[in-house]
Amino acid sequence: MSDLDRLTNLYWALCSVLRAEVPGEVVELGCNAGLTSVMLEMVLEAESPDRTLHLYDSFDGLPAPSHADQYLREGDCKATEADVCAAFERWGLRRPEIHAGWFDTTLPQQLPDRVAFAYLDGDFYESILTSLTHVWPRLSVGGSVLVDDYCDRLASPRAWDGLPGVKKACDAFFADVPVRSRVLVGAGDLAFAEFRKTEA
Ligand SMILES: C[S@@+](CC[C@H](N)C(=O)[O-])C[C@H]1O[C@@H](n2cnc3c(N)ncnc32)[C@H](O)[C@@H]1O
Repeated sequence: MSDLDRLTNLYWALCSVLRAEVPGEVVELGCNAGLTSVMLEMVLEAESPDRTLHLYDSFDGLPAPSHADQYLREGDCKATEADVCAAFERWGLRRPEIHAGWFDTTLPQQLPDRVAFAYLDGDFYESILTSLTHVWPRLSVGGSVLVDDYCDRLASPRAWDGLPGVKKACDAFFADVPVRSRVLVGAGDLAFAEFRKTEA
């Protein structure tokens, strides 16, 4: 889940927000066993240690897919909170704030009031739409949302197209929301898009 393309792009996307001193915390929606979370915390500790990393996951795997989803099934990608804690301990990192439960239950109450950077990796249409619905209003101007599995073959011909619900959810959400978006490319099959908030 955490190849070099992904980690490199994640690093620069997060760094650019932190170095611009955009206010708010850092969140990952769909942390699984914490492999990318470890990277986010390493960057935070080096660049902006006053901020906290918040992680969200059902720890029960994926929900039921919608008509827009394919490839993965309900219950796939299951990890535990203990897996996340073990990964952070292995790397000698501060323990993050972990919010266990389905996004539609946790996000309305448990997101920080202000978010500077969000990494969305929920795989399915409804999971991404729910994530954007709750994160975007809390995102600071200048902040950004990085979405994994957003496949736009016109912009990035090698991108992996296994989870088409992700792009559909983003396109639906941003249809009438002002945003600066870009598709990121890598040497392999990276499918990443960044959505930056430019106005309140
Ligand atoms: C691909 S994994 C995340 C991988 C992780 N970001 C990484 O790169 O190591 C997707 C995760 O999203 C979680 N997830 C998806 N939809 C969810 C929802 N609606 N509520 C809570 N968790 C959800 C799943 O449990 C799963 O662990």
